[in-house]
Amino acid sequence: MAVLVTGGAGYIGTHTCVELLTKGYEIIVIDNFCNSNPEAVKRVSKITGKDFKTYHADLLDKDRVEAIFFENKIDAVIHFAGLKAVGESVAVPLKYYQNNVTGTMNLCEVMKQHGVKNLVFSSSATVYGTPDQVPIDENTKLNALNPYGRTKKIIEEILHDIYRSDQTWNIAILRYFNPIGAHPSGYIGEDPSGIPNNLMPYISQVAVGKREQLTIFGKDYPTMDGTGIRDYIHVMDLATGHLSALEKVQSSGGVEAYNLGTGKGYSVLQMVEAFEEVSEKTIPYKIAERRAGDTAICFANPTKAKNELGWQATRGIHKMCEDTWRWQQKNPNGYTTTEYQNPVHN
Ligand code: NAD
Ligand code: WQD
Repeated sequence: MAVLVTGGAGYIGTHTCVELLTKGYEIIVIDNFCNSNPEAVKRVSKITGKDFKTYHADLLDKDRVEAIFFENKIDAVIHFAGLKAVGESVAVPLKYYQNNVTGTMNLCEVMKQHGVKNLVFSSSATVYGTPDQVPIDENTKLNALNPYGRTKKIIEEILHDIYRSDQTWNIAILRYFNPIGAHPSGYIGEDPSGIPNNLMPYISQVAVGKREQLTIFGKDYPTMDGTGIRDYIHVMDLATGHLSALEKVQSSGGVEAYNLGTGKGYSVLQMVEAFEEVSEKTIPYKIAERRAGDTAICFANPTKAKNELGWQATRGIHKMCEDTWRWQQKNPNGYTTTEYQNPVHN
């Protein structure tokens, strides 16, 4: 069983590749490395002791994608490749529509030509926008509030249209909540370029001494301590969610969306506290204005994934912080760290 993994060099892609290889799948990776480092792919091989083909290719280059399908027998596709920075998507929306929407359309056209119709797609809880109520289930009205979110919503609609036109497609749309954490080996993890946009990479960079202090965006939300609440999910739980979705698309048709979250929400201050406990470091912070576009409380109802995919998240926030911290300490400069510090031998 061979799985094409687009964006397989990225944060969630690498962790899913490890799970796939560990479970005996053959994988083929496509990545243009616009937001990742080839070193990440090497680390996947290091962890698993397995080699696989990696194509330095762009989904916008449809001829190249087609050539890759000619060269390989592909049974299913997990499609991670995409741009994901909310703020950047507001500044350069066309880049986001072009990359995410056109890239997905190219991929789906080539899949169709080659009769490959099993697809797992990375969507995001961002498609819900500001929900009227929590927990959020999959029937909640979609209301993406920024161009990035709208690319995901549009792609979801395209995938529904593809299935309506041809019911031999099998498509799982996975709406991730807030992925954090790293592989327990400390070999792979999240490696944002520049100043991190997201909470956990920021906290861990403060802890390791790369940044002076965390800025907490808003302390006047209607939550227990005034800071925003999110559903943080360990990236290894997300990875196993992809394997469950893959089994589902191989065994039954349809197009279905699933929330991948834990169903529990934690505030910014609770995450800071958990990280401090695990790392035994103090995280200095200052309170600032709310960040534009942020919602107060967002967490999943993950029941559909449990019932239909037989999947549920098992790792708690301390494990998430512990694995993030191991990765950050061993790779203070991410994949550009010259020498991997204190490697774990398998
Ligand atoms: P990432 O940036 O680490 O990984 C995405 C990978 O896709 C990168 O390696 C990048 O180089 C590659 N890529 C981008 N455009 C490409 C193109 N046109 N052709 C080939 N490769 C391309 O991001 P991630 O956090 O691993 O996210 C993976 C997917 O999950 C994305 O689609 C993202 O939108 C979605 N998602 C992420 C989060 C999150 O918080 N990390 C949450 C919800 C959804
Ligand atoms: C979490 C909480 C912030 C940074 C984003 C995307 C979403 C999805 C996941 C891709 C919020 C607060 C953050 C900081 C802070 N990605 N915060 N100081 O905004 O829930 O979701 O990532 O699909 O589309 O929008 O995650 O980690 O940025 O923020 O106080 O420096 O931490 O206000 O309450 P978010 P996040």
